[in-house]
Amino acid sequence: MEQTNSIEKQIEDLRNQIRHHDYLYYCLDNPEISDFEYDKLFKQLQKLENENPLFITPDSPTQRVSGSVVSSTFKQVKHNTPMLSLDNSYSVEDVFAWNERIKKNLDGDIEFIVEPKIDGLSASLTYINGSFVSGATRGDGEYGEDITENLKTIKNIPLKLLKNESILCEIRGEVYINKKDFQQLNDSLLDGGVTKFANPRNAAAGSLRQKNPKITAERKLSFYVHSFGQVQGIELNKHSEFLDFCSKIGFPIQKDIKVCKNIKEVIDFLMYLQENRDNLPYEIDGAVVKVNDYNLQKIIGYTNKSPKWAIRSYNFKCNFA
Ligand code: IVH
Repeated sequence: MEQTNSIEKQIEDLRNQIRHHDYLYYCLDNPEISDFEYDKLFKQLQKLENENPLFITPDSPTQRVSGSVVSSTFKQVKHNTPMLSLDNSYSVEDVFAWNERIKKNLDGDIEFIVEPKIDGLSASLTYINGSFVSGATRGDGEYGEDITENLKTIKNIPLKLLKNESILCEIRGEVYINKKDFQQLNDSLLDGGVTKFANPRNAAAGSLRQKNPKITAERKLSFYVHSFGQVQGIELNKHSEFLDFCSKIGFPIQKDIKVCKNIKEVIDFLMYLQENRDNLPYEIDGAVVKVNDYNLQKIIGYTNKSPKWAIRSYNFKCNFA
């Protein structure tokens, strides 16, 4: 009994160490140990799990690539809360007009948060008691496809949350591929005589919707959080707090986001993103401006397709001084 307990504990300790190093490496870009030391921990865990298969759990870092699941079709799943789309704006005037519309019945300046809109594919991840249990594409917003096994292969998606504060938590975000990894993928496809992808979005979508998760695992896909579905047991007041919270529990958060005190700051940051888009490691197709405060979001409300408290800004020319 003693012996069993200590092996189980050893396994869990190794898993927690690996999760911590995965987080530092894949989410914070700030590793503490060498690849060699990491591989040593990983092999130790694999060995103990192989010797004690009863202790293998689906949220173990060794379980990212399932050996045998090769489905012929993806199962349809209904989203608990619909995955909405965003209204568009095409000019500075559009953004000002949106601001005027939403502040009509509100007092004072509104605080906003601006995030790049990385060109990828949206996905919803469900965690129960801190463990990743399933994930789906957006689909038509109401029904998506079950791509759990493929999502598990994405290294910066945690299989177990670093802190386990909620019974149910649906985290939504975008799966994408960095410019550098896109280039490498296309080069390797060309070498193999396979047609290359036209753009990073197609590459992300094509890689994620593979019937064989082993192929998805070979593609260097990344994920970032942008919203949530159903969440139980977490009280937060602002979207910026939600993003900080997600970062603390092990999710990757975009670096180039900004909380803005007023609409002028929003426009400045949109300009900044636009001017610097070539220097960003990923391709963007505009940016998303959101009202930061959840109470205000609730007051401003939704149409049946999209939130009125958010707007997507396509790239536009700067036409004011
Ligand atoms: S917010 C609809 N934030 O854009 C409210 N969406 O056109 C929740 N997207 O399906 C989404 N980056 O997949 C939001 N920073 C971001 C985003 C983002 C990309 C995608 C998202 C959504 C689509 C809507």
